[in-house]
Amino acid sequence: IVAALGVRSLVLVGMMGAGKSSVGRRLATRLGLNFIDADTEIETAAGMTIPEIFALHGEPYFRAGEARVIARLLDQGPQVLATGGGAVMDPRTRDLIHIKGISIWLKADLDILTKRTKKRGTGDRPLADRLKELLPLREPIYAMSDITVQSRDEPHDVIVDDIIAALP
Ligand code: S3P
Repeated sequence: IVAALGVRSLVLVGMMGAGKSSVGRRLATRLGLNFIDADTEIETAAGMTIPEIFALHGEPYFRAGEARVIARLLDQGPQVLATGGGAVMDPRTRDLIHIKGISIWLKADLDILTKRTKKRGTGDRPLADRLKELLPLREPIYAMSDITVQSRDEPHDVIVDDIIAALP
């Protein structure tokens, strides 16, 4: 599998609460690849947390930084890259992911996403209270991914198995 990737990355996309970071980390371990979380990289590059970026500079500023960071990270493949839930709404980012990676949509229903984002508190996710409004706008875009894997409440390893089985 890894040899077939060449320099392409496995890019996890989907809504906040879908499990991109936890599943991504485990997928990377299973394949012996590096795992990178775009949100963490953005926070490191900005020297502040995502809620601070939103509060201080606003969402458009965050999105510009997010697009830059993901473009840079996509040149470091092969790796597993988890993107923030809104990243692929940028058409340029979407194109880059398509060229330099294999996109995997971790698909989850609204009830699951709501439960998971509530559990962790909404403090670290500025848009968490808009899940219901954002999901129908984003799903058609997520659906353009190379691979779709449905996530319910099964163990992460089961989802990782599903992803590995679906890889080209
Ligand atoms: C966002 C999702 C977050 C983070 C930011 C905006 C979104 O990432 O990038 O708070 O627009 O859905 P996660 O999907 O990892 O929570």
